[in-house]
Amino acid sequence: MTRYALVGAGARAGMFIRALTTDHADVAELVALADTNPARPAVYKKRFDLDIPVYDASDFTAMLKRERVDVVLVTTVDRYHEKYLVAALEAGCDAVTEKPMTTDALSCRRILEAVRKTGRNVRVTFNYRYNPLHEAVKSVLKSGEIGEIGSVHFEWLLDVRHGADYFRRWHREKENSGGLLVHKAGHHFDLVNWWLDDIPDTVFAAGRLFFYGDQGRRHGYARDYDRAHGAPEAEGDPFALRMADEPAMRELYLDAERHDGYHRDRNVFAPGVTIEDDMAVLVRYARGASMSYHLTAYAPWEGYRVMFNGSRGRLELEVVETDHVAPSAAAGVKGEPGSVSTAERGWRRLLVRPFWAPPREIEVDGYSRQGHGGADVRMLADLIRPDAPADPLGRTANAVDGARALLTGLAANESLATGQAVRVQDLLDPEEIK
Ligand SMILES: NC(=O)c1ccc[n+]([C@@H]2O[C@H](COP(=O)([O-])OP(=O)(O)OC[C@H]3O[C@@H](n4cnc5c(N)ncnc54)[C@H](O)[C@@H]3O)[C@@H](O)[C@H]2O)c1
Repeated sequence: MTRYALVGAGARAGMFIRALTTDHADVAELVALADTNPARPAVYKKRFDLDIPVYDASDFTAMLKRERVDVVLVTTVDRYHEKYLVAALEAGCDAVTEKPMTTDALSCRRILEAVRKTGRNVRVTFNYRYNPLHEAVKSVLKSGEIGEIGSVHFEWLLDVRHGADYFRRWHREKENSGGLLVHKAGHHFDLVNWWLDDIPDTVFAAGRLFFYGDQGRRHGYARDYDRAHGAPEAEGDPFALRMADEPAMRELYLDAERHDGYHRDRNVFAPGVTIEDDMAVLVRYARGASMSYHLTAYAPWEGYRVMFNGSRGRLELEVVETDHVAPSAAAGVKGEPGSVSTAERGWRRLLVRPFWAPPREIEVDGYSRQGHGGADVRMLADLIRPDAPADPLGRTANAVDGARALLTGLAANESLATGQAVRVQDLLDPEEIK
């Protein structure tokens, strides 16, 4: 039995707690929870009927020793991942972290150094690798059917429900999340690294805060309130998150506010946003391929398109997760119970277009509209079960993969700040990510 402890008992933690205490309880044991806020671990103890101790996060190292922890799950706010990862490794534990592994180059170096020094392991849970569609892309590219890849064209759209949610809370400040180029695009940059089996070399970015924050006023969206709960001005605002109406949100956030003043429902058009919502990135990879990438966080629909131009043809993946946001579900948060309306349609298509032949559609089994395309459940089994099936596509990601994914976003942030193209070797010695 592997003994797990978790730090950061927010929304994402629920998925891990459920997996450890139900689906994989035959091979894993959750022995403790830690957080800066005692109310959220208490919610999970009640929800899953757990009889385990809760520690204040300041007693993290003592918890590891006292509870004889083997593996630590780090699901806190991004900027604190490094602190807990390094402490866990130094205490002799292995660690698992949610993406992004961290938010800046210095803390990334500290994590890589701690891995080297202690010989312990860090797993980064890049769940998107486990989406059956993304596995199919990897298989086609690996088969050589479309030859060597010359370039990638990748567009990702976050709709005005899911995209807006990054502007309601801690993500809206760059020092907490690294901005969406680190926090969100890190998933996509990791996918491209993995798909191409390559690493970024040079990055140029252009982007800005265009829609949310104090830009809303320009577009006629400004509402004069700071947070939705208790604000009459939020009535009828489709961007307002009504936590009191969602029992899970109420107990995890609204009822927990008294301990730390964390407001989950800030007005997305309130001032103080320091991240971008519209970003274009140009990447040259070490082996020569290029990528044009775009992330938009205020789209009417949610999904993505990724195109690979190869020496023998082209591969095209198009995914519409939801074709619009239904007004009844506008203020829900994607992934939370009851938030996505059945009126919102989705479809997907993976197409190989070889030279001199008609296109061929690839049917993919196992895709689901829940849990990131069905990826989460598969990722958890691979992460937790010692008897997990072999991993011929190499989906398992470690600290080096975490650093490689981070580098494109960090270099893009640097490029936004300086207006110059950025060599990733100026951020991290290439020897460190070999
Ligand atoms: N892979 C994915 O698809 C995916 C999806 C959602 C979230 N995530 C990741 O999960 C992590 C958590 O996100 P979330 O949405 O659950 O956030 P959340 O705000 O719901 O939860 C964060 C938790 O961390 C706690 N916390 C804050 N500061 C802390 C500190 N200094 N020490 C210990 N605990 C602290 C908070 O009290 C809260 O309980 C983030 O890193 C996010 O990127 C990943």
